[in-house]
Amino acid sequence: MDKLRMVGGSPLQGEVIIAGAKNAALPILCACLLTDQTITLRNVPDLQDVRTMLKLLQEIGVEVRFPDAADRSYVALNAGNIKSSEATYEMVKTMRASILVLGPLLARMHSAKVSLPGGCAIGARPVDQHIKGLKAMGATIKIEGGYIQAETPSPQNRLKGASILTDMITVTGTENLLMAASLANGTTILENAAREPEVGDLAELLVKMGAKITGIGTDRLVIEGVDKLHGAEHSVIPDRIEAGTFLCAVAAAGGEILVKHCRPGTLDAVIVKLQEAGLKMEVGSDWIKASMSGRPKAVSFRTSEYPAFPTDMQAQLMAVNAIASGNATITETIFENRFMHVQELNRLGADIAIEGNTAIAQGVEALSGAIVMATDLRASASLVIAGLAAQGETQVDRIYHLDRGYDRMEQKLTLLGANIVRVK
Ligand code: EPU
Repeated sequence: MDKLRMVGGSPLQGEVIIAGAKNAALPILCACLLTDQTITLRNVPDLQDVRTMLKLLQEIGVEVRFPDAADRSYVALNAGNIKSSEATYEMVKTMRASILVLGPLLARMHSAKVSLPGGCAIGARPVDQHIKGLKAMGATIKIEGGYIQAETPSPQNRLKGASILTDMITVTGTENLLMAASLANGTTILENAAREPEVGDLAELLVKMGAKITGIGTDRLVIEGVDKLHGAEHSVIPDRIEAGTFLCAVAAAGGEILVKHCRPGTLDAVIVKLQEAGLKMEVGSDWIKASMSGRPKAVSFRTSEYPAFPTDMQAQLMAVNAIASGNATITETIFENRFMHVQELNRLGADIAIEGNTAIAQGVEALSGAIVMATDLRASASLVIAGLAAQGETQVDRIYHLDRGYDRMEQKLTLLGANIVRVK
């Protein structure tokens, strides 16, 4: 199992180029299932979850091509000859986002069999709202042998438009229902829809494919179903979480970096908090220049749905708080178990206590390197940030979590002058 070994204490200096957003790319790849024509994508990040999704799509029968062998971010997908409507337990257990094939397969093939995802390190993460929405659109859904078995009312029949109000805001739930509704018969109204930019990016691709969607970017999506969708070209939006992770890295380790190819408008809540922490930022149309000297100031925050502070940045900003001057309270409202990095940060010398869904961080002057273990994707990023700020050597084990969601993170950090290596 790969590990990352780093010696902290040197400030970051230079430029970093942000890749396409993982959480936009995953549903966007699944959207290819909605048409028999080719979908050509650019700015697809080269990371493990994307490779897993491409493998799943290939198992279903999608033809995946890289038109330029030297550029993995440019992918062409054709689902003209689908041979299966199934996502196996083997696939879903490695990546929960596999659930995103359910809506499109059901809409286009009139049946789908997708393994029910189990619990997850960060929370229970049920998919009841996905199922409830598809049932409202006329699907018959049974859970059998650990699989969600979904069918439209009859093999010839399409899903039908419906008014759906989800019990809570769900990102992949909104995406699944949005894709299904695009090919349904009639109009679907999705109330309480997730407003995350990744949902908007998927909707933009669907519109290019011929879908009729209004309300993009709002919590009320209206989808007038069409008979057929067609091929399209699309460039995935930049990853706001990757950009935010590098901003936290410079806030913790100090230095001056230029974050390029990002979309600052999707990072407002993160920028506000990092400014409060003392990070100096100059913001352009697709770049952020950030510099930090001295110790950050502690900043309290609570996670919430977009446009509020993202849960996917909680662990990284906690790492900044670990070495900040002052106390911060960090409240996690989206996932009930997303504090596993706390014990590992404490192994690096942080002073963080957990009370229910709130972590109380008492900033310390300095962290000291140690061997720590990554427990999930964003927890891994927070340990890397802490390791870059710590004195001495830190080793982060189980780095496969990081590889699921970051495109060449240690290479990008090396270019910023960090002393970091991957150990096989
Ligand atoms: N929920 C339910 N029932 C459902 C769906 C969700 O109870 O049917 C609950 C969840 O358990 C959670 C809350 O609703 O407490 C929100 O979950 P959501 O469905 O929005 O999460 P998700 O769609 O499974 C996506 C991202 C996550 C990100 C969350 C929240 C993808 C592929 N994943 O997950 O990304 O944390 O939204 O923004 O888009 C990551 O990248 O590290 C990551 C975990």
